Amino acid sequence: MTAKVVAIANQKGGVGKTTTALTLGAALSRLSQRVLIMDMDPHANASIHMAFFPEETPHTLYDLFAEKEHDPAIWERIIVRHPESERDFVTGHIRLSELEVDTKDRPNKGLILREALKDVSGRYDYILLDCPPHVGVLLVNALVACDLLIIPVQTDFLALHGLRLIFDTVRMINRVMPEPVRFKALATMYDRRASACRRVLNLIRKKLQGNMFNTVINTDTKFREASAQGKVIYDIDPQSRGATEYTLLAKEIMQL
Ligand SMILES: Nc1ncnc2c1ncn2[C@@H]1O[C@H](COP(=O)(O)OP(=O)(O)O)[C@@H](O)[C@H]1O
Ligand SMILES: [Mg+2]
Repeated sequence: MTAKVVAIANQKGGVGKTTTALTLGAALSRLSQRVLIMDMDPHANASIHMAFFPEETPHTLYDLFAEKEHDPAIWERIIVRHPESERDFVTGHIRLSELEVDTKDRPNKGLILREALKDVSGRYDYILLDCPPHVGVLLVNALVACDLLIIPVQTDFLALHGLRLIFDTVRMINRVMPEPVRFKALATMYDRRASACRRVLNLIRKKLQGNMFNTVINTDTKFREASAQGKVIYDIDPQSRGATEYTLLAKEIMQL
């Protein structure tokens, strides 16, 4: 069995990418799935959230992209195990933002991650990629490597603009890929009492049809609380609405 690689991306910031990567990772592992989470964002929000501070971590995702020649043993250096949850994690680093320049003349620079993931694919059921909010070599690597792209969309009107950006990127990738990237949008931070939210959700559903998860993630203040404590929502309130909804999402993904 090889892992399903799931990229979580949207060029818009603050839509719940990092929250989805960490919470979905936790949900899947509570359902007995073996999970690796990779922080591909130079801002390393997911890493800091999990208390893997890039400046204190000797080996990060940057090492993988900076290799002159690929060495499969690199994974033993860059994978760290979260002490409490015992989930595997690869830390991000601000130097990832230098990759645009570093890889300028490198052939097949979009395939670096896809090739390297083959080494560890047998160890996991799911590999989740928390993507940066801008188009560049990292996002391209993630989209080329993934079996499924989750696009979190905040249910407000500006979200529709963000969607257009990510679709442009997907189209660009699809031009060079043997098979088109499979994607599903995920409504996040939904407030069903707000009519604007309901309208946007209906609009996106109509536009995307089957390319949207049935599960909707509502606004839940517990996400911020958990993040402030360096935890995920299951650690502070496994019965909360947010926790329940990410479990539903995990089950929906396992059935794909
Ligand atoms: N469903 C939600 N309800 C309430 N707050 C949320 C929810 N999802 C994420 N947040 C909060 O919104 C902020 C941005 O989320 P984050 O996952 O960091 O977005 P991104 O990675 O897309 O920039 C964070 O403070 C996070 O705790
Ligand atoms: Mg983020």
